Amino acid sequence: MSATMSIPTLFLFRFLLTSFLTISISDCASTSSHCHPQDYNALLQIKKAFNNPKNLTSWEPNTDCCQWHHIHCDLKTNRVDTVEITTGIRHSKYGYLSGVISPSFGDLSYLKVLYLESLNITGEIPISITKLKNLEYLLLKNLNLQGPIPTFLVQLSKLYYLDLAYNHFTGSIPPIFSKFTKLQGLELSFNKLTGNIPESFGHFVGVVPNLHFTNNQLTGSIPKSFAKMNFEMIEFGGNNLVGDASMLFKTNGYSEYGYDIDLSRNMFEFDFSNIKFHKDLNSLDLSHNNIYGSVPKDLAMVKDLQFFNVSYNRLCGEIPTGGQMSKYNSSSYIGNKCLCGSPLPVC
Ligand SMILES: *[C@@H]1O[C@H](CO)[C@@H](O)[C@H](O)[C@H]1NC(C)=O
Ligand SMILES: *[C@@H]1O[C@H](CO)[C@@H](O)[C@H](O)[C@H]1NC(C)=O
Ligand SMILES: *[C@@H]1O[C@H](CO)[C@@H](O)[C@H](O)[C@H]1NC(C)=O
Ligand SMILES: *[C@@H]1O[C@H](CO)[C@@H](O)[C@H](O)[C@H]1NC(C)=O
Repeated sequence: MSATMSIPTLFLFRFLLTSFLTISISDCASTSSHCHPQDYNALLQIKKAFNNPKNLTSWEPNTDCCQWHHIHCDLKTNRVDTVEITTGIRHSKYGYLSGVISPSFGDLSYLKVLYLESLNITGEIPISITKLKNLEYLLLKNLNLQGPIPTFLVQLSKLYYLDLAYNHFTGSIPPIFSKFTKLQGLELSFNKLTGNIPESFGHFVGVVPNLHFTNNQLTGSIPKSFAKMNFEMIEFGGNNLVGDASMLFKTNGYSEYGYDIDLSRNMFEFDFSNIKFHKDLNSLDLSHNNIYGSVPKDLAMVKDLQFFNVSYNRLCGEIPTGGQMSKYNSSSYIGNKCLCGSPLPVC
């Protein structure tokens, strides 16, 4: 998300910089003057906390920090608005840099995007980060962070997107995160989170965020309060969740991108027979649960279901036909109690 946003601006910035380089040199406006001293000092502290790695050789004293790699400055204010250090290789854990997240990140007062991915960064998120009142994107992904997910992150009131996936976070999901008003996505997948999905998440007062909690150790059932929220994307696969999840299926509401629900690999147990679906449902994965009843006829009414899987449940009865139903082969239905009809053998 931040990558698509920052790369064009970065390109534009470099283009402008090259065009005006001659002017700034002849004017004797030393290039290092672009960089605000507070940002400059903070970045050198950050580099130190990363053990002065090779990859940050451009972060040299007495040079313009706005020209350093992995940094972007706002063109008007010349303040650092983006720090983006990623290997770009999703599963190459750790990469070229190890250390901790320096508390000096909190001194980059104009920061909007902080994106660190696939680096050997250990420890916790420093509380000083709450000073970043302009922060919109916080992605600390595939690092080695640990400890509980800090509740103080909710003080970042402009946050659009929080991504802490692929770390070692423990403890529960902070209920206070329902107080975020602009958050569009909460990505906490592939950690070691325990406890329940907070009841408060049925009461978001502003934007209703996409929830990505895949592959944790969450327990309990989905709070009844979820019936009131129009979540567009729910990814709860690979946890230990139980009980009824039927309140997640809504027929009303509008979504530009449609609805995606992944409840696979849990212990959900509810009657599927009479569920009604939103016509803009994109994907539904209910595989590996204890869901019973039959496959609802209403499923054939969904406009463009891209992915459908109810394998390994306790479903029974005839599979409905018509609409999109002919798109799915037997692998969407295997491992049930007594389903029958195309694409499975006739009843
Ligand atoms: C670090 O440097 C290596 C080798 O020079 C390069 O392949 C890699 O992409 C760099 N990583 C980052 C995070 O810039
Ligand atoms: C990651 O960092 C830790 C501590 O800083 C170090 O002991 C370990 O060797 C590093 N691992 C890799 C793969 O660089
Ligand atoms: C069933 O469909 C899926 C995805 O559409 C495909 O990957 C798979 O190979 C198909 N399996 C069979 C048995 O036809
Ligand atoms: C459905 O899920 C089962 C179990 O994980 C898998 O074996 C099968 O290939 C999946 N089918 C489709 C179409 O996704």
